[in-house]
Amino acid sequence: MSSQPPGPKGNLLFNRPTGLGLLEFFVNNQRQYGDVVHFNIATRRAYQLNNPDDIQYVLVKHPEQFHKSPTLKRATQQAIGQGLLTSDGEFHKRQRKLVQPAFHHKRIAAYAAVMTDYATEMVAGWRDQATLDIAHEMMELTMRIVGKTLFDADMTGEADAIGDAITIGLEATIDRMQRPFAFDHWLPTAKYRERQRAGQVLEAAIQNIIEKRRQSSEDKGDLLSMLLLAVDEDDGGQMTNQQVRDEAMTLFIAGHETTANALAWTFYLLGQHPEIESRLRAELDTALSGRTATITDLPNLPLLEWVIKESMRLYPPAWVISREAIEPVTLGGYDIPRGSIIMMSIYVLHRDPRFWDEPEQFRPERFAPGWDEHVPKYAYFPFGGGPRVCIGNQFAMMEAQLILATVLQQTQLTLIPNQKIEPQPLVTLRPRHGIQMRVHLPVAEPVLAL
Ligand code: HEM
Repeated sequence: MSSQPPGPKGNLLFNRPTGLGLLEFFVNNQRQYGDVVHFNIATRRAYQLNNPDDIQYVLVKHPEQFHKSPTLKRATQQAIGQGLLTSDGEFHKRQRKLVQPAFHHKRIAAYAAVMTDYATEMVAGWRDQATLDIAHEMMELTMRIVGKTLFDADMTGEADAIGDAITIGLEATIDRMQRPFAFDHWLPTAKYRERQRAGQVLEAAIQNIIEKRRQSSEDKGDLLSMLLLAVDEDDGGQMTNQQVRDEAMTLFIAGHETTANALAWTFYLLGQHPEIESRLRAELDTALSGRTATITDLPNLPLLEWVIKESMRLYPPAWVISREAIEPVTLGGYDIPRGSIIMMSIYVLHRDPRFWDEPEQFRPERFAPGWDEHVPKYAYFPFGGGPRVCIGNQFAMMEAQLILATVLQQTQLTLIPNQKIEPQPLVTLRPRHGIQMRVHLPVAEPVLAL
């Protein structure tokens, strides 16, 4: 119908505009070229969508015209194979149906106590005035929680080694997506060997969890039992070993990395806005009077929810999502050929001044009731949308709120001054150098000398 949309010249694979990080590249594209931006990645045409209506078309109205991007699939093949995140079509539909019951809201409610218990244990291990990297602490905590709730596994001793392996894996994934044809992905260099070792650490951890459960053949009613025992209603088939492994690895990685980042950025933002933190503490004091929060308290803690939502607006843990058009489509008035890559940057939409007043400012009150009446539906979508919306959406929201409440009730964290804090857009949006914070445990009541 119409000509090619505007966009930066050259090939993203070889020459991203000098000096621009990936985030700036996507933001710049929107500011400079508008709602649909075209560029090339390797041999493929890519289209960045910046209009909420076009995003709704792809995610919600016509998801059948799109598959997950082949670049993402190839880059993550080794780690998560054919799990929920990367599979398509009928196979994806069937897997989603099998996994969904583990995320039923009644079942999720049963996970709440693990979340607050583990958060309390974490704080109990902190010393007053100690400096810690809150991003690292959150990664370890959410990993232990996902291990316990979904797989009934205690990851305490392994959390550090697995965390390092996941970091290496994510860096490798981005590298493979940005340089899909580079030879050194397969040459036995030091980097290659490091990546292989990281893969082995993860593989051993997940196989160990599955093997232990197979041996006990007990139905614990958790996600792992569901995966192992699930029988498809239509064909009576069970999952193969490989499918159980791929699903378990997908949920293990997707189930903690994102929430950990959301929490790390939240502590950072609260550290920069002590007045908001004070109000949040007051809300917690009034509603809970010092007792541990439960799921039934959450509706009485509105600011807690707004703080998490606003933090995910500024630092959406899944900062970009992508698809491949499996048939020709028209978006924003442009004809887009079959095989094109469609990119939707949650980060860009969340900071678009057309939809947000002073988008760079941290203002949790934006999310007061009624906010969605004046913000288009897909201008805020930290969990994606449509049939492939995040399956862990409610799990993650509950977890983030319960952990934040529990930590704030027991301690105060302040930012170490003069540190460089920079978002690093790997598959998720991580703080590149971590976030160093100082612990202030509550001052004990003075003991009266008699
Ligand atoms: C703050 C935390 C989280 C954020 C921001 C987040 C974000 C997202 C987004 C944006 C998608 C859609 C991707 C796309 O359309 O391409 C997604 C999918 C997914 N998420 Fe999450 N997620 C979070 C937590 C979780 C948790 C806790 C779990 C599991 C325990 C999980 C498991 C998944 C899975 C399996 C998918 C693929 C669903 C499908 O394609 O059917 N996520 N997530």
